[in-house]
Amino acid sequence: MLFDPFPFAKTTLKNRLVRSATYEKRADVDGFATDSLIELYEELARGGTGMLITGNALVHPSGRSVPEMLCIHNDHYVDRLKRLTDAVHRQDGFIVIQLVHGGRQSPPALLGGEPPLAPSAVYEPFLKVTPRAMSDAEIWEAVEAFGSAARRALDAGFDGIQIHGAHGYLISSFLSPHTNRRDDYWGGDEERRFHFAEEVVKAMRSEVGDQIPLMIKMNADDCLEGGLTPEESVLVAKRLEYLGISAVEVSGGMYESGMKTIRTDIAGEEQEAYFREAAALFKRNVRVPVILVGGIRSRAVAEDVLARGDADLIALSRPLVREPDLPLKFREEDKETADCISCNGCMRYPSLDVVRCIWLEDFN
Ligand SMILES: Cc1cc2nc3c(=O)[nH]c(=O)nc-3n(C[C@H](O)[C@H](O)[C@H](O)COP(=O)(O)O)c2cc1C
Repeated sequence: MLFDPFPFAKTTLKNRLVRSATYEKRADVDGFATDSLIELYEELARGGTGMLITGNALVHPSGRSVPEMLCIHNDHYVDRLKRLTDAVHRQDGFIVIQLVHGGRQSPPALLGGEPPLAPSAVYEPFLKVTPRAMSDAEIWEAVEAFGSAARRALDAGFDGIQIHGAHGYLISSFLSPHTNRRDDYWGGDEERRFHFAEEVVKAMRSEVGDQIPLMIKMNADDCLEGGLTPEESVLVAKRLEYLGISAVEVSGGMYESGMKTIRTDIAGEEQEAYFREAAALFKRNVRVPVILVGGIRSRAVAEDVLARGDADLIALSRPLVREPDLPLKFREEDKETADCISCNGCMRYPSLDVVRCIWLEDFN
């Protein structure tokens, strides 16, 4: 099934493999797409993945979470992004941009020393920083930033947009009862915690209409005491579906829950696909395509997830860092398992020139 075409939005994807959003560290210091970044996406497109999702692109300077990340917070970025989409389209690829505001997980060092912004001032133990609770005006400014970034994504020729609603960044932090302690329009109960995501989707829709599919990556589980649970996140997904979201990618975890998003303890097939149960719950409750990410390395597991109907599409991040042409190898060389060992060497990007696989590399 993995290589069966998949009807999606107004097109057909050539297979059911998705490159999950993966920060590249290949934009320049100002966030413009470099030639190296464009070459990476050309390579991924040639490698045969049905849908490519870029690393998270910044919608507002107050949400910068990593250096040399793609930016899309003003019109100047559009030209270089258009070169990126043109390059992928020349390889017959389908390219989606992921839009993010880093919120509470943006280090002050990347914000000119300012504290990060969040729904509430809940201490973030990984960065060791207490964010500042956003004012109503700041929240609306962030909503508008997502809206205008969506318009730029359309102008730049992307085939789809994915909202980063997972992993503790701004949207996720509004959804989570752990990080959203407000008692106003933006928080207080499940319905009000949803308002930020809702206003973001509406703002984007009003900018792009139905010209481009809007997808979301969200936490099925914050993997944290007092955080979002699969039962509540399914309700969120249903609300998003009602708002016209075209697909949901199921993930989980945030900085302070430890390495639950990007796990290393994958010794065999049993540990792969670690959000599979949550994805299956989503599948039973929503009609839009469900994308599963997290620890999938072998073709057999991917096929089994699809065959049992636990997800519609299979997303990979680290395996494609190591082998951008893994889909071709699966299909044409009967390869069974990715070379990636989920060691998170690629996560040591602060000391690397770009995000890349360093397995077996003598790294000091
Ligand atoms: C180097 C690196 C960068 C990542 N950047 C992003 C990102 O920009 N946006 C996002 O939603 N997830 C990001 N992730 C998480 C992955 O998309 C994915 O959810 C996670 O790695 C689990 O999938 P995997 O086991 O296939 O790697 C990143 C992961 C890695 C290893």
